[in-house]
Amino acid sequence: MVEKWGDDYICLGPYFPQRAAAEYEPITEPDETEIGQTVRKMRQMGYAVEYGYWLITGRPRIVLFHLESVTPQLNQIKHDLWERHQLSTLGVEDLVNQVIAFGEAARVFIKLLADDHARRVDLVAHFHEWMASTGLPDLRRENVKVATVFTTHATMLGRYLAQNEEGFYGKLPFFDWLREARHYNIETQATIERLAAQQAHVFTTVSDVTARECEVFLGRNPDLVLPNGLNIMRFTAVHEFQNLHVKYKAKIHEFVMGHFFQTYSFDLEKTLYFFTSGRFEFSNKGYDLTLEALARLNWRMREANMDTTVVMFMVTKQPYHSINPEVLHSRALLEEIQETCEAIEQQVGERLFQAAASNSDITMPDLNSFVDEYWRLRLRRTIQSWKTKQLPRFVTHDLVQEDAMTHFIRQAKLVNNEFDRVKIVYHPDFIASTNPLFGLDYGQFVRGCHLGVFPSYYEPWGYTPLECVVRGIPTVTSDQSGFGDFIMQIMRDYENRGIYVVNRRTQSFNEAADQLANILFRFVRMSQRDRIAQRNRVESIAEVFDWTNLRSYYDTAHDLALKRRKP
Ligand code: UDP
Ligand code: G6P
Repeated sequence: MVEKWGDDYICLGPYFPQRAAAEYEPITEPDETEIGQTVRKMRQMGYAVEYGYWLITGRPRIVLFHLESVTPQLNQIKHDLWERHQLSTLGVEDLVNQVIAFGEAARVFIKLLADDHARRVDLVAHFHEWMASTGLPDLRRENVKVATVFTTHATMLGRYLAQNEEGFYGKLPFFDWLREARHYNIETQATIERLAAQQAHVFTTVSDVTARECEVFLGRNPDLVLPNGLNIMRFTAVHEFQNLHVKYKAKIHEFVMGHFFQTYSFDLEKTLYFFTSGRFEFSNKGYDLTLEALARLNWRMREANMDTTVVMFMVTKQPYHSINPEVLHSRALLEEIQETCEAIEQQVGERLFQAAASNSDITMPDLNSFVDEYWRLRLRRTIQSWKTKQLPRFVTHDLVQEDAMTHFIRQAKLVNNEFDRVKIVYHPDFIASTNPLFGLDYGQFVRGCHLGVFPSYYEPWGYTPLECVVRGIPTVTSDQSGFGDFIMQIMRDYENRGIYVVNRRTQSFNEAADQLANILFRFVRMSQRDRIAQRNRVESIAEVFDWTNLRSYYDTAHDLALKRRKP
């Protein structure tokens, strides 16, 4: 966008000091651009407004509003929203108040900018999500000279209903949006979304999958579908990505040794790392299907007497007290073992060198004799205190309470018995480099794995499989996810390229679980050579999802909005 619009491109957002500290750099010098002048005008009107650069690729200029400076007017704004648009905001949660404050600040800013008579270019305002959009209806009502685009990245009602209503897609055409919105206590949110969708010059969403919901819940078919991309420059380490896989896999090996080898061991050369990740929407994200398929995979691998081990990481966010102390302790002891080994290695090395240099005899000396009793004892003791008979825990943290994941894992008996070929590590927190268990950030963790598993039931787009693809990691997605649906439309040989699409549209849960188990079973029998070649094929798709290519969808939306405002 910055490439196309230069200084005429501006992002608007709410100001949160903690976030801003890391990602925002203020512009301090006087700025005579139209945007700089508009910021000044708003400040004169009494709004607290930040203005600077957003420190992401492209360094777009950004205006951030202090929401508190709008709060005194909140009741009046709500009154107007009710009177003009029948938007009821009685008894809403504080988040909605913030949303309304932000929407108002954005509306004022856009109106000032549009009313500037010296304007050189026509103005387009692109609103993402209901949370940005409470000001949109008034911009239309007042006939402000701005072309508006609204993009919904999901529907509020879709998220709730898909999670709670059995057979959601079958019932979809028959839902009464208002009744459901009231039932789930999201009438205000759903109404804002609906108003924005109906009033924008151009209404868009991120996938055909979500477009199907829009007519029912928002009362308007999207004009366009704008698929999601990534800034591929940031991800692609050309030719290096295979090496990075090995590098980060070694870090995951360390975790796995610390976690499992305390009780029993398996061959890490014959171990595959699968993972899934995302918010805790148990059935929407297909965690249920994934676990069911893993149970079937486990059984099949045992039947086939395979010596391969699959370690499955379930990465999501659930309330917990702390990382489980035993898990941490085991990890720490393994590190001590490693340090002891290194000390022994050094001692043996030095003494071997001395012996070799001083010895005329060229036979190899007994290396054991080079190790001090102290180090032998220390190694033996540490290993002894580390080993246990307890099964490796399938959840790494002390959860505040048991949840659907732990229930399903227990019920499917995927509890990390030695004979299980599929092991489970449920990590109820997002992965960050500060986390002592892996010491990897999320992107590095993805690279170290072999397969991402995301057979979602409800997924407007789904970045997680795409993030695998751009790192050269094969992935499972579903035809109910925007990404999976898009891949099926644009590519014929996606499966050969390492993108597996589970059919959740026409298959039952049971059939889909079988299909997924088949996919996984085929994957675990691939040779290393085939895996390497497949990673190359996956990675070669990345380009398709570069914003440089996908920006054109946005350009089309903006052009259409301008045309509609001024035919
Ligand atoms: N994610 C992350 N750390 C994690 C797990 C997930 O940062 O440990 C991010 C992931 O990179 C992705 C996002 O969470 O960008 C999830 O987005 P997605 O589109 O898959 O699902 P949504 O959140 O929209 O339901
Ligand atoms: C990359 C490396 C190879 C390594 C392979 C392991 O391709 O370049 O040297 O052997 O990864 O692949 P695997 O699928 O077994 O983790």
